[in-house]
Amino acid sequence: MPLTDLYAAHVATRRQRAEAALAASGYDAMLLHAGAPFTYFADDQDAPFRPTPHFAHWVPVVSPGHLLLVRPGKKPLLTYVTPEDYWYEQTPLGSPFWAGEYEVVEVGSEQDAWKGFAPAGRTAFVGPPSQGREHGFGDADVNPAALVSRLDWDRSYKTAYEVACLDEASKRGALGHLAAKKAFEAGASELEIHQVYVIAARCVDAELPYTTIVALDDKAATLHYSGKRATGRGKVLLLDAGASHLGYGSDITRTWATAACDPVFRILMARLEAIQRDLCDLVKPGVPYLALHELAHQKIGQLLQSLEILRVGADEAVAKNLTGVFFPHGLGHFLGIQVHDVSGRQKGPEGGVVPPPSSYPFLRTTRTIEADMVFTIEPGIYFIEMLLRPHRAGKDSAAFNWPLIERLSACGGVRIEDNVVVTADGHRNLTRPHV
Ligand code: GLY
Ligand code: MN
Ligand code: MN
Repeated sequence: MPLTDLYAAHVATRRQRAEAALAASGYDAMLLHAGAPFTYFADDQDAPFRPTPHFAHWVPVVSPGHLLLVRPGKKPLLTYVTPEDYWYEQTPLGSPFWAGEYEVVEVGSEQDAWKGFAPAGRTAFVGPPSQGREHGFGDADVNPAALVSRLDWDRSYKTAYEVACLDEASKRGALGHLAAKKAFEAGASELEIHQVYVIAARCVDAELPYTTIVALDDKAATLHYSGKRATGRGKVLLLDAGASHLGYGSDITRTWATAACDPVFRILMARLEAIQRDLCDLVKPGVPYLALHELAHQKIGQLLQSLEILRVGADEAVAKNLTGVFFPHGLGHFLGIQVHDVSGRQKGPEGGVVPPPSSYPFLRTTRTIEADMVFTIEPGIYFIEMLLRPHRAGKDSAAFNWPLIERLSACGGVRIEDNVVVTADGHRNLTRPHV
């Protein structure tokens, strides 16, 4: 289906869901604000702009100040701001594929946008709180929890349009990953691999969904490593990098090793990849995400024992949370407008939280899997000194093969991360067809 048609259906869904959310939270309308630039303290420069996600859920533009008024039964009203300014590039609206879904008014300033705004009954403001308060909204009507939690909840079910955007974001990320792999094999540094990645993914850094993790060797043990060292010839590359398309981002990790890498680490990589594929195969409606996370621990326990990294069986390793020393993050998270997308732990449309068990505090997804959810499956095994240290002399010290762990620590770690969309009876992997 052409993107314009997918988009029309997406907005039809948004309108229907918004109508239900407004009715349930006692509002007649909502005003979504595109967001305000974040200016560094005592500076005249802004951080790279990120739109308000609730606005981005409707309108695929990445610039501040626009207003979208959503009222039941009416075409949403988009007030689009094109400032009169010769310092920065102008982005007049033109006629993008999505504009037909809105009644559009183009204005020259944010002030003019607000001048044209007339509240439609009881109106909720959704966006940066200071913007709402500055323009007369009472505290109770600025990001009211009853409404926002319903909007968050709705974001966990992706429309076909959103999946198409995520698919394209995966495709572009994959181009980056393939080029980066070649550069790594040719001995490139982290800095060079990063540059190769963004060129192949056809974007600049500010357009990435998150800072690339380009980790050679030992740095792969730092989960969100953001450095870019200039020395190359690594034996292991852990690359966690995505790309964006119309406001939706992919989140892809691959780990590669050269022939010079420790052979035990290469086996570890191959077996973790098999585990990752097996876990992906289990994705279908009705499965609690936590069950997949627990199964990942069990399988990682078996793998650690099979390579004699741990000297105890999987059951004992899991019971004593020794697998958590090597796999200290969650199996995955929702993906969409935000890389760690909202509502992974939400209890219901009206809000509430389902916390993860205390043994897995970093698990971001405690929902039961349902059709149209999009999330990552990203098991990993790392040699993290900070987590190993307490066990060196602890009561479970004998369970660890310390000489082998010392050896493998030079390789950092391995993570494999795919993005999957849940279908009526299974899933579709958005990453594998492209990488
Ligand atoms: N790229 C961050 C993550 O995988 O969650
Ligand atoms: Mn991720
Ligand atoms: Mn990632």
